[in-house]
Amino acid sequence: DERTFVMAKPDAVQRGLTGEIITRLEERGLKLVGAKFMQIDQELAEAHYGEHEDKPFFDELVEFITSGPVMAMVWEGGDATRQVRQMMGATDPADAAPGTIRGDYGLDLGQNIIHGSDHEDEGANEREIELFFDEDELVDYSRSDEPWVYEDEDH
Ligand code: GTP
Ligand code: MG
Repeated sequence: DERTFVMAKPDAVQRGLTGEIITRLEERGLKLVGAKFMQIDQELAEAHYGEHEDKPFFDELVEFITSGPVMAMVWEGGDATRQVRQMMGATDPADAAPGTIRGDYGLDLGQNIIHGSDHEDEGANEREIELFFDEDELVDYSRSDEPWVYEDEDH
């Protein structure tokens, strides 16, 4: 099954939205296979957002993501990376559709609640999972409702 990296950003943790984010992904049928409540340090932040190092907002981005604890997670499911991105909504919460996580909880581009691996960036999900988790921190199990979520066994 496909795995994707998701993070409740510092603003989500501070605003008490961690549970809501987990609930939405959980209720969709995606399976939580790893979670770590943690403080990101400078080095990890710069590695995670390396693709943006030449952007004018890079320093702000690193400052924000290190400004408080985050909930780092790995979620598994059919087409998980793209499905999570759809549930997140547009990068700028001001443009995110109501019903999406950013569209329901955010107003500001720099504080947009949630991170999810980019499905258009091949392998970004695996790279980000490796950056945040050791393989033995991910749990292999079945959810009892899987037959009711997926019609086919090998989704
Ligand atoms: P992430 O899941 O956080 O990676 O967001 P994304 O994939 O939807 O957007 P992208 O990777 O392009 O940008 C990373 C983060 O940088 C975004 O989540 C924004 O918070 C921030 N960001 C993007 N563009 C701008 C900008 O023009 N100004 C500022 N201040 N922040 C930006
Ligand atoms: Mg991104």
